[in-house]
Amino acid sequence: MRVLVTGGAGFIGSHVVEALRARGHEPVVFDVRTDPTADVRSPDAVRGALSGVDSVCHQAAMVGLGASFADAPEYVSRNDLGTAVLLAAMAEAGVRRLVLAGSMVVYGEGRYACARHGVVRPGPRAVTDLAAGRFDPACPVCGADLEPGPVGEDAPVDPRNVYATTKLAQEHLAAAWARSTGGSAVSLRYHNVYGPGMPRDTPYAGVASFFRSALARGEAPRVFEDGRQRRDFVHVRDVAAANVAALTAEPAAGALTAYNTGSGTPHTVGETARALAAAYGGPDPVVTGEYRLGDVRHITADSSRLRAELGWKPEVAFEDGMREFASAGPRGD
Ligand SMILES: NC(=O)c1ccc[n+]([C@@H]2O[C@H](COP(=O)([O-])OP(=O)(O)OC[C@H]3O[C@@H](n4cnc5c(N)ncnc54)[C@H](O)[C@@H]3O)[C@@H](O)[C@H]2O)c1
Ligand SMILES: [Zn+2]
Repeated sequence: MRVLVTGGAGFIGSHVVEALRARGHEPVVFDVRTDPTADVRSPDAVRGALSGVDSVCHQAAMVGLGASFADAPEYVSRNDLGTAVLLAAMAEAGVRRLVLAGSMVVYGEGRYACARHGVVRPGPRAVTDLAAGRFDPACPVCGADLEPGPVGEDAPVDPRNVYATTKLAQEHLAAAWARSTGGSAVSLRYHNVYGPGMPRDTPYAGVASFFRSALARGEAPRVFEDGRQRRDFVHVRDVAAANVAALTAEPAAGALTAYNTGSGTPHTVGETARALAAAYGGPDPVVTGEYRLGDVRHITADSSRLRAELGWKPEVAFEDGMREFASAGPRGD
């Protein structure tokens, strides 16, 4: 199968390219990083690249949180205009299969349950609570402690920043394309992807990069809050395998199907710091109680739909992945 991989020179895209090749497929890289004319917003460039292609794996995007709201037009341009141009060219060329790099950021906070009120949706945490060391959100009805749980694909969406908004709009555009062309679209909502080649400043597994940089300087990793924030770190090779599974499956035609793409085994940020420090041979992490406004307390995935429907399962154990990550250098640029 010939697959156009947009963003194929990026962190995740380059692993997708490798995984496709390893399974005998023919990936075609389309990425402005390596070819300044290969911009998904350019109809001519995209049209040319689609020739002879069976399916598209759309990884290209502007990632990160942006320096300020002034970056909003650039996010919307690259992520949403870019997706619209790509989909229009696919409609014209008769390419009917799309796998999109989705994101767990579409959910906002994770899933919480109150013993009395069932599943509830606490809003962003208040400064007064954070400053007092009350890091866990409370029940918005009765103020009781909440039980965090894994978020499923049918959870309501709550994008909380410009990047998250553009990732959600990509899904809506892909769903509209699928309905109007009869094509099939899959969105793999990646959780915190980590592994070799990871950029330093993503909102995802960036924390693991910061810990590793500290250790490389001989300093203790500084863990914010109380270190008990829960995340689902999924290895980039497992994410690449999920893309291959989605590209070779028979997803529903005329619709977008979303799949959480996580390891299914949550870990705390404190555990991550300890695993990396252990792999490095110290120093041990320090828990500082510092916080950043807008950080989500817990977000972990229920990835059982991906396992059940696409036969995918993660292969890289957390301890092994973190050990490998601790000894590999960050991406050069
Ligand atoms: N890293 C994660 O943990 C994570 C989590 C959820 C979702 N995602 C999504 O996964 C995808 C890949 O992210 P990544 O972490 O590999 O980031 P990355 O920055 O390493 O890769 C993105 C690639 O897209 C390319 N690109 C950007 N704009 C482009 C354009 N207009 N035309 C062509 N190419 C363009 C960049 O040059 C880059 O190589 C993105 O869609 C991102 O939103 C990543
Ligand atoms: Zn309650």
